[in-house]
Amino acid sequence: MLNKKYLKVPFKDLLGHYQVPCDLYISLSEKKFVKILNANQFFDEDLILKYLYKNVSFFYLNLSDKNIWEELLLAKEKLEIKQDTFLYDDPAKELTNTFRRIRKYSIEMGINKDVVELVEGLQQKTIKSFRQNKYLYKNLLRMVTTNNYLADHSLLVSSISCAIAMKMSWSTQATLKKFIIAGLFHDICLDNSELAKVHYISEVEIMNLPEEDVKKIINHPSDGASKFLESNLNCPNADKIILYHHELPDGSGFPQGLNSFNIPPYACLFIIAEEVVRALFHYEFKEAAWDYLEEKITSEYISGNFGKPAQGFLSCFIT
Ligand SMILES: [Fe+2]
Ligand SMILES: [Fe+2]
Repeated sequence: MLNKKYLKVPFKDLLGHYQVPCDLYISLSEKKFVKILNANQFFDEDLILKYLYKNVSFFYLNLSDKNIWEELLLAKEKLEIKQDTFLYDDPAKELTNTFRRIRKYSIEMGINKDVVELVEGLQQKTIKSFRQNKYLYKNLLRMVTTNNYLADHSLLVSSISCAIAMKMSWSTQATLKKFIIAGLFHDICLDNSELAKVHYISEVEIMNLPEEDVKKIINHPSDGASKFLESNLNCPNADKIILYHHELPDGSGFPQGLNSFNIPPYACLFIIAEEVVRALFHYEFKEAAWDYLEEKITSEYISGNFGKPAQGFLSCFIT
């Protein structure tokens, strides 16, 4: 029987998107539909694969959204024609779309346009310098072509770190480069967005993950730091930022359980930036993210070496 309320769409049509402007549903029975995504909510390939693996081949959208969906498919078709050339001629060009999104987020967040341009220039330059390093280049490419969450997350953490650092006058090129390198390397050993979203070790227990994934999460800060050191990039202390990016002020972080007095200041700044990005994605870049962050940073991130970066965060984004 033809459903009069919903339009049936193959799940695979979602591949290549990371956000769509209409609510999406799956069908549990002929009459029962459950919403799996809100309009404009971020998602990634893992979500689509999860349903495909469960043999759920179709999702549904409200019939009233039919036109929006068809326009989206048309736009995607045009983009794919262009992207085919990117993939085979010059993969680095894939980064263009990612940078476009990062620029949009940064401006919306209120980061000064000059700062956005300066940081983007440094990020582009740094990525270009990786062309000599096959491992790194391959992994960056993997991030930008198959995993938008990881690409956006990695670049956005470095952009926010740089914006806060510049507010605090930690703004030499050498310092900004540390945050850019750390942004690109810190989650490079994670190949799954869901694992990259884990922030606290307590989340690992709740998620009931296979042992292999738990190991990946626990080891990714030190694995990322090792990959950076192996790459022989000249960027002092970036390895420490990568290694400590899941440490927390109260000592409950991992892998070493350091606290606000023994986590180095640059790493503290990066940890705050990671918290900012996490909240932005969680609250879909809405105002609620900043309310949450103001409360969180002023209550949990003001002691020891977190004090100065926390002030930097507040003057950059809140006051
Ligand atoms: Fe991260
Ligand atoms: Fe991480």
